[in-house]
Formats: sequence, C-alpha cells, structure tokens
Amino acid sequence: MKIGFVGAGNVGTGLGKRLAAAGHEIILSFARTPDKLAAAAAAVGRTARSGTPETAAGEEIARAAPGAMVVKAVLPFAELLHSDSLLIERRRPAVFVCSDDRSARLTLPSLLADIGIDGIDSGPLKRARFTEPLGMLVTNLAYVEGMGARINAVLIRDPSA
Ligand SMILES: NC(=O)c1ccc[n+]([C@@H]2O[C@H](COP(=O)([O-])OP(=O)(O)OC[C@H]3O[C@@H](n4cnc5c(N)ncnc54)[C@H](OP(=O)(O)O)[C@@H]3O)[C@@H](O)[C@H]2O)c1
Repeated sequence: MKIGFVGAGNVGTGLGKRLAAAGHEIILSFARTPDKLAAAAAAVGRTARSGTPETAAGEEIARAAPGAMVVKAVLPFAELLHSDSLLIERRRPAVFVCSDDRSARLTLPSLLADIGIDGIDSGPLKRARFTEPLGMLVTNLAYVEGMGARINAVLIRDPSA
C-alpha cells in the first residue's frame, strides 16, 4: 500500500520504518526544515521518500472532502515502535480502530497486522471519543506513574462467548 504520513517525528518514523520493512511505500511529510524531513525519510528506509503534506495526503483528502473517510486509531508509544520488538510479555500490542467506513475498519487492522499489532474493530467513529481517555490513562501510567513506554491496553475475549 502507498502510505503518506503528515508528521515525520517519533510516530511517523517509528511506524513508517515498520511498514516500509513490511513492503509498503512510505512518504513522510511535515517538518520544520527540509533537511530534517530528508533525514527522517532516510531513517525510515531506502524505499521511503519525503514530500509535502499534499503529496502525502492533501490531494486525496481534498478530492474526497467533504466525504473523506476518517479512521481513528490511537497507536502504541513511539518508544515501542522504535524498539527491537513490539511484543510485551510475548503479547502483541492492540490498537482500537473506529470509523464509519466498514472497509476502513478491515483495511487498517490488516495493515497493522503486517507490523505485528492487533487492530480491533471498535465500531463507528463516534465511539472514538472513548479511545482518548483510555489513551490518556495509559499515557499517565507510562509517564506519570513511571511504568514506562512498554505498556499497552489490550482486549481479551473468550472466543466461545
Ligand atoms: N509519541 C507517541 O508515543 C504517540 C503515541 C500516540 C499518539 N501520538 C500523537 O502522534 C502525533 C505525533 O507525535 P510524535 O511523538 O511523532 O511527535 P514529534 O516527534 O514531535 O513529531 C511531530 C512532527 O510534526 C512536525 N511539526 C510539528 N510542528 C510543525 C510545524 N509548525 N511546522 C512543520 N512541521 C511541524 C515535526 O517537525 P520538526 O521535527 O521539524 O519539529 C515532526 O515531524 C501527536 O499528535 C501525538 O499526540 C504520539
């Protein structure tokens, strides 16, 4: 898949390098200087390139607006994305995916599976508001309570239920 990032910092490079290694085409955009953007693209991988937000997403969003497909998914911490392994206690991290577009709720988990993350179809976009407090709780536990970035909220489910 061709994937454009608006933001070439911790998350853009952390996610970008894993998706590039899984064979996806990556474009990084949005930094304060072109040098920093080029360095970020180089760090992501040989096949990654830098561009403007328009090349990464703008054109597509502009074409699709006002009916653009929006997907909300709060990612694991950038420290985890940049570390050698995403596994925490041998478990894959989870990402709760909300969108009004059913196909997007299938596409994003498949993309996340490419890099070893469990994407959980969490229903419509209006439910995304509940992912924010969960993200804030995990962030507080990591950085205020000192648990560090190798933590994640997962969903466990009895498949027979
Ligand atoms: N870090 C995490 O673990 C984490 C987890 C989940 C969600 N998030 C969210 O993901 C987003 C990105 O986080 P991050 O940690 O990747 O941040 P970051 O490392 O600070 O990266 C931000 C990117 O945006 C660019 N940028 C910021 N202000 C800009 C401006 N005025 N003009 C041009 N470029 C600008 C920065 O360029 P420069 O480097 O040139 O400043 C950089 O490429 C945030 O909304 C954050 O809340 C982060």
